[in-house]
Amino acid sequence: MEMFRKKDITGLINTKSGLRKELKTFDLTMLGIGAIIGTGIFVLTGTGALTAGPGLMISFIIAALACGFAALCYAEFASMVPVSGSAYTYSYATLGEFIAFIIGWDLILEYLLAVSTVSVGWSGYFQSLLNGLGIHIPTMLTGAPGTHVNGETTIFNLPAFLVVIVITTLLSIGIKETKRVNNIMVIVKTAVVLLFIVVAIFYVKPDNWTPFMPYGFSGVFTAAATVFFAFIGFDAVASSAEETINPSKSLPRGILISLAICTVLYVIVSGIMTGVVPFKQFTNYIDHPISAVLKVSGQNWVSGIIDLGAILGMTTVMLVMLYGQTRIMFAMSRDGLIPPIFSKINNKFDTPFVATWIFGFIAAILGGLVPLDHLAELVNIGTLSAFILVSVSVIVLRKTQPNIKRAFKCPAVPLIPILAILFCGFLILNLNPHTWWRFAIWLVIGVIIYFVYSQKKSKLSN
Ligand code: ALA
Repeated sequence: MEMFRKKDITGLINTKSGLRKELKTFDLTMLGIGAIIGTGIFVLTGTGALTAGPGLMISFIIAALACGFAALCYAEFASMVPVSGSAYTYSYATLGEFIAFIIGWDLILEYLLAVSTVSVGWSGYFQSLLNGLGIHIPTMLTGAPGTHVNGETTIFNLPAFLVVIVITTLLSIGIKETKRVNNIMVIVKTAVVLLFIVVAIFYVKPDNWTPFMPYGFSGVFTAAATVFFAFIGFDAVASSAEETINPSKSLPRGILISLAICTVLYVIVSGIMTGVVPFKQFTNYIDHPISAVLKVSGQNWVSGIIDLGAILGMTTVMLVMLYGQTRIMFAMSRDGLIPPIFSKINNKFDTPFVATWIFGFIAAILGGLVPLDHLAELVNIGTLSAFILVSVSVIVLRKTQPNIKRAFKCPAVPLIPILAILFCGFLILNLNPHTWWRFAIWLVIGVIIYFVYSQKKSKLSN
């Protein structure tokens, strides 16, 4: 059957792409943290605290376990098939073309919508920073069409649009420049999270931790499905395989180290924030929960620094996610499943210039026009289903291709992949049923495109 045809792994490993090789383990770790720390920790923890209470710490641990198990599966694949395309490419070699296409389609939800979602969060922080400096953007241009702000109706979120355009420009002119800017911003935002921990820990009142789970496990699980968003991005590391100098070593390390660092930071931050501010009060600080904790403690200047760090933090998330999006589409286009324009490399910059601009522009427009709060859930479901398919692929490939060299082996197969599947499936069940439906509609559109276009144009069909 055509739809189940698979790519040959040996052929994949020898792919030559023309992309410039620049990245090492350190850069990949920075890339991972760049994609991970952002809206999830700086914004969604407010909703999380209201949903779970101090039990938010447990929510973070549950989400981290789901990601940790999936990350071990990603790491095995990334070390074995170090080529662009991440989950899409892995499944092309194991589960066949149709599933691979669907994963690629699914990853658009993760990467592209994450860029738009984060741009809206970025815009909120940026405006509050500008307001603090006495600069005001015309209200009309501060939100998606139809949002009411101070009695006026907004028509466009200009800051959200513009920040994505700037990021697109950066990405389109080259990986080397991108890497430098990313590394600096990641150091700053990690320092800001550490600053929060060091300052706020002195204001913790252990009394605030009781009751620990005011809404029981159900609150903790719902919050886990929301704050899962905070971990998304470590998988973007895998999409930079063809620009990495020694991918089979560096990719697994980059994935696992960045995830481990962020998990430790998140659990500490969520413990401190619910220890300083009684969780119910977060309803007043839903947009700026982290910096608000310091305002409440009277540390206004530190709070300002945190705002600035959050802005930088979200910038790198958009940068890495857009990067991942173009690289996955690059791989799909090279395979003929989407039009060739998406894998054309620009001679001057050595980047997929046109593709970067197409996706950058779509993400920017969405950020300008759509209030994306609910779409964060779509990003989560898209990502969770990709994690599940990657975990399935690891089990399948151990059976069908036992002799291929795996520079990194996921421990305890099939137990770890099965745990990944169970944890991710459980988080999906804890998302809103509306999200399941929207996701189903997205998949149906993908299936139609596959049968109308991709199956016929696939390179494997010639
Ligand atoms: N993990 C990323 C964030 O929290 C997507 O912004």
